[in-house]
Amino acid sequence: MIPIDLKGRRALITGGDSGLGAATAKSLAQAGADIAVVYRDGPENAEKVAAAATAFGGRTAIVRLADVADRNQVTALFQWMDREFGGIDILVNNAGMDGARALCAEGDPTAWRRVLEVDLFGAYYCAREAVGRMGRQKRGVVVNTTSVHEFIPWAGYSAYTSAKAGLSMFSKTLAQEVAGQGVRVVAVAPGAIKTPINANVWDDPKGLADLDAKIPMNRVGEPDEIGHVIAFLCSDLAGYMTGVTVAVDGGMLLYPDFRHGG
Ligand code: BGC
Repeated sequence: MIPIDLKGRRALITGGDSGLGAATAKSLAQAGADIAVVYRDGPENAEKVAAAATAFGGRTAIVRLADVADRNQVTALFQWMDREFGGIDILVNNAGMDGARALCAEGDPTAWRRVLEVDLFGAYYCAREAVGRMGRQKRGVVVNTTSVHEFIPWAGYSAYTSAKAGLSMFSKTLAQEVAGQGVRVVAVAPGAIKTPINANVWDDPKGLADLDAKIPMNRVGEPDEIGHVIAFLCSDLAGYMTGVTVAVDGGMLLYPDFRHGG
């Protein structure tokens, strides 16, 4: 048996109270990591995630971050992490938003900017705090959650696709910067996964059928299917991986329309 062993690794997960973040917190805890669950709204879900994580034996804590796009709050978050856990070994930049659907010519520039601020600047602010600390201790992993939409254009979501494509190139560039310091940076690109971010689509039978048709495996993914991959990527089993995007998407990137014809 080859175990995924994260014992003693201190992990911070933004948006760790729901969806992919909650599943990731659980998977990392299952592999033995200490878990800091970062949440924004109400502590109830974060408390549940932390309680589930505690059952696997590591340390857990929850902390509120009102706005990942606020640099000063992010600085304070990492100071909290230092006090609470004595440092950080794993950062999962998971917090993000799709934004409301709006065609470019009709959308509100303030809303467009906000998606970039949360999805790209938020991840950047957290990463810059993390890699300084990780570089000094010569160990650490940053996981940036992108999306299949770092590759696939998506009408009505130009802010989101731009943010995710930007986050992908940020990951690669950062990986290049810190590779010599024992720090790895990887991106995970989920496809359609059953989380609150797209509940309006998979909750509706027509929406779900349309979505399934875009996925060669013909089903929406489960949050644990992302959490498991992230746990592997954070472990020493993936010790030679850096600067890549790992797609976890049931084949969504495989141009499913080309199954026939062409
Ligand atoms: C989005 C989901 C969407 C999926 C596939 C994800 O990045 O957050 O809303 O269902 O991509 O299109």
